[in-house]
Amino acid sequence: PKPGRTRAVLPGQIGVLPAPTTLRQSIIVPTFNERDNVAALLERLAAALPHDDTEIVFVDDSTDGTPEVIAALAADYPIAVTVHHRDEGVGGLGGAVVEGMRIARGEWIVVMDADLQHPPEIVPDLIAAGLRDGADLVVGSRYTNGGSTGGLADGYRKLVSRGSTLLVKTLFRNSLLAVSDPMSGLFAIRASSLDAGQLRPLGYKILLELVVRNRPGRVVEVPYTFQTRHAGESKSTAAEGIRFLKHVAGLRFGPGRLRMLAFALIGLSGLLPNQAVLWALLHATDVHYTAAAVMANVVAVVWNFALTDTLLYRNHRRRAPLSRFGRFFLMGNADLLLRIPLLALLVSGLHLGVLAGNLLTLVTSFAVRFLISDRLIYRA
Ligand code: GDD
Ligand code: MN
Repeated sequence: PKPGRTRAVLPGQIGVLPAPTTLRQSIIVPTFNERDNVAALLERLAAALPHDDTEIVFVDDSTDGTPEVIAALAADYPIAVTVHHRDEGVGGLGGAVVEGMRIARGEWIVVMDADLQHPPEIVPDLIAAGLRDGADLVVGSRYTNGGSTGGLADGYRKLVSRGSTLLVKTLFRNSLLAVSDPMSGLFAIRASSLDAGQLRPLGYKILLELVVRNRPGRVVEVPYTFQTRHAGESKSTAAEGIRFLKHVAGLRFGPGRLRMLAFALIGLSGLLPNQAVLWALLHATDVHYTAAAVMANVVAVVWNFALTDTLLYRNHRRRAPLSRFGRFFLMGNADLLLRIPLLALLVSGLHLGVLAGNLLTLVTSFAVRFLISDRLIYRA
């Protein structure tokens, strides 16, 4: 080993090689409790790649001592190894990869898993294919000729993988047409085609994020066979599936439009308590229909606030609870200034039924309220 080149860095730190060398390739490996996989991974990567032209960047969220194991092992290889351990708890696979991209200095940025499901020996092939074909992005694919999902043991996982691939390929027609395996966690991108600052990954599918937001020019694929996990178990959970759907929806429709849809659905659900309370008051009491409409509205506003505040803007609560409620309550009832005269006109003037008139005024005020909530109350 050439001592100066080995640089393993322990928890919370970022390793930097002394000179601003340019490297051929940076291998980014996200790790979350992969203690028993990193030895075999390092050994096979070191055997497959030129030592003085490669760096390996681990971005780690482990609690099992993986960084210490890597640091001890790295001393055996004359290759630049960096462990960037994050202390903020499990940060997610996609976020880890983007952090690695910010640190990486290679001409090519290669991303692969630590559990040897992606054979390390394929890395030189990825880069060779990129250079030969003048590509910006090279995707390791299980679904192109010669590739296989070998290690995806059970039929259920196969189905999920095929289904999500199909979903994504239908939703992102243009940008993903050239990629047979957009779910792949194995790929190489030319650093000059990468803009890590634009990436906002959510969950596992970092390649999808990258293709949609960075729009690399030429994309080629290299077939590979997905292996069975070397040791330990998959970190993917059912919650990851939900996260994937959110990620896809956000990428496709944009967060703003998605919020508007959710806001509309919650508003729609408020019609239920509103009409129900109005109906009950009209049938069981003598209150004037305009007063009944006011009371029904108050109940519906509380209902809408509870749902909006807990489901829609959970991560955007910058004001105190009472302040949020107060503003929301004022806004939700302010539209009575418009709705009650309108209701009187519809019912007393045009002889519409109270419930039908109430519904009509609610629909009118909906569009106005979304804009106020989105812009003035939350600014999400
Ligand atoms: N730093 C960090 N933080 N790493 C993580 C986290 C996290 O929160 N979650 C997972 N990882 C690491 C794992 O330690 C592993 O090295 C890699 O990400 C993949 O995790 P697995 O749990 O083994 O994923 P998988 O086998 O179910 O799915 C993989 O293969 C699929 C097919 O290529 C992923 O790469 C998928 O994105 C891919 O679709
Ligand atoms: Mn895996």
